[in-house]
Amino acid sequence: MRLVLILLSIFILSGCEKNEKIVFDTPNTQVENERAKVIFQRCQRCHGMKAEIQALTRSDIIAHYSKNDLIQALTLYQKGKRDRHRFGFLMKGIIVDLSSDDIRVLSDYISKIEDKN
Ligand code: HEC
Repeated sequence: MRLVLILLSIFILSGCEKNEKIVFDTPNTQVENERAKVIFQRCQRCHGMKAEIQALTRSDIIAHYSKNDLIQALTLYQKGKRDRHRFGFLMKGIIVDLSSDDIRVLSDYISKIEDKN
């Protein structure tokens, strides 16, 4: 079942990519921030409520990452091409269903999370 889901998301993602034009430094709209906030809920148990914790005592504190670094790291995890502490597979599993647009919106949100309440 899980494999089917993964294959399905890869299929869908590769289909979307052709039409998607990503402008990396466009800030999130209010609506995009709301969407990012919901996605970010799945990161909080490991990375902290405000991305201020080292996940499983190992990862970097991702609140300190720039938007572009976040986009790059997440995209590589998704492709299974990043694995700094042997937990790359874990990160991949958590974000495998995100579209590249989700990743852009999420990365903008996290990179500015310290400014938020
Ligand atoms: C189950 C715990 C867990 C959850 C949930 C989780 N992460 Fe991670 N994250 C990790 C671990 C462990 C690493 C280190 C992975 C490795 O070995 O490269 C990591 C690494 C990262 C990195 C790179 C930091 C580094 O040290 O290289 C980013 C960026 C990141 N996570 C973002 C996210 C985002 C965004 C989410 C939510 C969509 C998320 N993570 C959810 C555990 C988690």
